Amino acid sequence: MPEHGLLNLQIDHLDELQRRYESALNEHGFDGVLIASGAAPYRYGDDQRWHFQGYGPFLHWTGLTGREHSWLLIRTGETPILWLHEPVDFWHATLPRPEEPWLERMIVHTLAEAEPPSLPACGELAVLGDPAQIGSVPGNHNPEALIQTLNETRVRKTAYEVECLAEANRRALKGHEAARKVFQEGASEFEISLAYQQATGQREADAPYHSIIGVNAHAGTLHYQYYDTARPDASRSLLIDAGVRYRGYCSDITRTTAGEGERRFAALIHGLDQLQQRLCTMVTPGTDYADIHQKAHQGVAALLSASGLVTGLDDQVMVDEGITRAFFPHGVGHFLGVQVHDVSGKPKPASKDSPNLRMSRQLEEGMVVTIEPGLYIIPSLLDPVLEGPLGKHIDTSLVAELRGCGGIRIEDNVAVTVDGPRNLTRG
Ligand code: GLY
Ligand code: MN
Ligand code: MN
Repeated sequence: MPEHGLLNLQIDHLDELQRRYESALNEHGFDGVLIASGAAPYRYGDDQRWHFQGYGPFLHWTGLTGREHSWLLIRTGETPILWLHEPVDFWHATLPRPEEPWLERMIVHTLAEAEPPSLPACGELAVLGDPAQIGSVPGNHNPEALIQTLNETRVRKTAYEVECLAEANRRALKGHEAARKVFQEGASEFEISLAYQQATGQREADAPYHSIIGVNAHAGTLHYQYYDTARPDASRSLLIDAGVRYRGYCSDITRTTAGEGERRFAALIHGLDQLQQRLCTMVTPGTDYADIHQKAHQGVAALLSASGLVTGLDDQVMVDEGITRAFFPHGVGHFLGVQVHDVSGKPKPASKDSPNLRMSRQLEEGMVVTIEPGLYIIPSLLDPVLEGPLGKHIDTSLVAELRGCGGIRIEDNVAVTVDGPRNLTRG
């Protein structure tokens, strides 16, 4: 059982959600909303299902990630009703109900069948969830305007949510420490994954996203998705991007480690780490997140100069001409919550020069974002630059040397507070 303080904060969290939901329902002319937890679909042409993780709004209220075919009804001025699917089933286990105070704040029913519950009178009802699950339920299905307003209720985290995210970070950091240690002993990507799972006590399928574990050149593929079972001939670099779910909440942390003797790569990691820390100091109320992204590009330009990867070009020219984008092609981060890329980050379309930025809002107290600059050697992005008019400014022998180390990303999870940034990853 988590500590008393967290359980008390969870009660406050539910009270706050009730207020936010009532205001949203009122604004859109609904009396209630029924939320389906979801259910894992079958793989096409197969009798096996995908692994289940749960629908965002259901997790926002309950944190219960493994509960398929369950439902939550929120109505104005009424106690929430939670139906938990608890079948008698000799094929599968049924998760025990948590005995925690928050469940006393809801009316809880057992649902024996994988079918929607019989509802009390609800008035004007919205029904949210996977269309495959909610099809037979009367009501207004997934109304877009209401969903947008409800997504907005996830943007400014309650104190409970921030503490859950902090704990998800603490747990993931144990995994990162273990991963780094076995990498330094020559482990394969597969062995590094096992060490991470062992240290976090979390199997991969339950993680917020598939871990990215790239040794050597694989570190240059942004979302590298395989695990080599063979140990590398030389352990030159490790990029591990891996998180933990805690009570539904995700961490999303990346660390890069240089192998023994990789002086130049280690210096680049050090430079990027310093840049990342400077960017974290910008996570304050009122800052435009796109400005952090821009500062990241300027910092990458400075690092390209300082390392000798690019010579004879002004930092701003490198940014304006897209050279930094060839080395750092993704956004500087995103919202974090019950989904690793949490909702509502981009109410307006991305600007032309940051097409991959997932977040384009001004920061406000309570938001939690990732800050994750990177610097990679990606041939498909660098080759066109090398063949173009500015190619002569790039040191190709240094690029060739670093190619075998793949790339660097450093990612922390940072909460916006009135007192400044609270880095949940570095404590
Ligand atoms: N782990 C995916 C990301 O950093 O966005
Ligand atoms: Mn991230
Ligand atoms: Mn990540």
